[in-house]
Amino acid sequence: MGCARWYLLRYCATSCSATVRYVLLALKVCGHREREKYFLLPRHDIIMETLDAIKTRKSVRRFQDRPVEREKMNALLEAAVQAPSWTNNQCWRFIVVTEKETIEKLTKANSNFNSWLKDAPVVIVACADPKDSGDWNGLQYFMMDVSLAMHNLVLMATDMGLGTCYLGAYDEMKVKEILGVPDNIRVAAMSPLGYPLDKKTLRDKMKGAILRSSNREPIEKVSHWEKW
Ligand SMILES: Cc1cc2nc3c(=O)[nH]c(=O)nc-3n(C[C@H](O)[C@H](O)[C@H](O)COP(=O)(O)O)c2cc1C
Repeated sequence: MGCARWYLLRYCATSCSATVRYVLLALKVCGHREREKYFLLPRHDIIMETLDAIKTRKSVRRFQDRPVEREKMNALLEAAVQAPSWTNNQCWRFIVVTEKETIEKLTKANSNFNSWLKDAPVVIVACADPKDSGDWNGLQYFMMDVSLAMHNLVLMATDMGLGTCYLGAYDEMKVKEILGVPDNIRVAAMSPLGYPLDKKTLRDKMKGAILRSSNREPIEKVSHWEKW
């Protein structure tokens, strides 16, 4: 009798732990599925391969008056957070702004050079919590963490036919005030997001010429082999 009870107890314990393991595994799989669904967007949304996206990406400063679909914005954030980061601490924090009034305020917090920002349907503000990153040899790595994440987002956006443009000429304090960003958080980058407007005005062409935006220095000038 004692022996039968022992076997029953052992059977229950083993099957319980197996059940718990199966439940945990199922939860893990569901978690992955939840994340992966963003990468399983309909094929027609993914229109380029990586190299095409790298080569096609150009700063876009004029947008169609058309909202960006929520699932695409989610997919972009998912792409962003796949970036590498200092000890995988993922110091990035994103603010997705779609309210026109807030975008107008953000435009005012930018230099006049970026006055076109007000017509963007979305602005992504990339922040960093520096304490979740590190520094070494005087290099603060939160900027790199956020830049890598932003560039994942930017390339993925290009892939989806969406336009972006890195912005650096903003008043960080004003941006923080507008968006209620805590004191300890830095605003590391910002970009509009939207469907590009094809037509180029004379102003756009002049801006392109001033920035020489298609020009790239020859590889020989910017690279060394083996030593500097
Ligand atoms: C850190 C950084 C800050 C930038 N800030 C601005 C900006 O404030 N306004 C703007 O119109 N473009 C800005 N740009 C975009 C550059 O002007 C643009 O990337 C460069 O001219 C090359 O053109 P392309 O992006 O079309 O290849 C910035 C780019 C970087 C990387």
